[in-house]
Amino acid sequence: MQAILGIPIAYLVLVLEIIVLIALLIGWRYGASKKNFDLHHKAVYLVVLIHILTVGLWMIPRALERLSFMLSNPIANWYQIVHDVVGILAIGLGILLVLVFLVKSGMPLKLLKRTRPLMFLTIGVWILAFVLGVYWFLIAWIWI
Ligand code: HEM
Repeated sequence: MQAILGIPIAYLVLVLEIIVLIALLIGWRYGASKKNFDLHHKAVYLVVLIHILTVGLWMIPRALERLSFMLSNPIANWYQIVHDVVGILAIGLGILLVLVFLVKSGMPLKLLKRTRPLMFLTIGVWILAFVLGVYWFLIAWIWI
């Protein structure tokens, strides 16, 4: 029953995560790179809003449900463990960046330049979490 209910939610979450990734890439390519910070900020707000819902309402409860099963065989479930750890890191880096810019308002150019490597790291780690999430989705719901 739970498996049947889970399929449409998992698909919905996958679609939402694809939208989130596209919004992040648009915010970077057409926002930050072209100094269109308004577009960049709108993209980030959309990402935060959707991601809070997908991770908070679906992924974290699912991760907690599976925790003992996952840790009972870490080698077989490596992609789940790496996905969760990398996912937490990506969200942590994202929150850190938002906080840095909230504290130092006005977006000084120096700060933008100094945080650039952190932004690249965040997007890289984010993409890794996404790829592992898609792999997990395929194993759990498609290749079963
Ligand atoms: C940048 C951060 C993250 C991204 C981009 C991401 C992306 C994804 C994607 C695309 C899926 C496949 C859709 C699905 O099966 O529902 C997924 C599944 C999952 N994610 Fe994440 N995720 C992130 C963070 C996290 C975190 C922090 C946790 C928990 C600690 C987590 C736990 C899970 C779980 C348990 C599933 C499987 C859900 C299921 O049973 O289908 N994710 N993730």
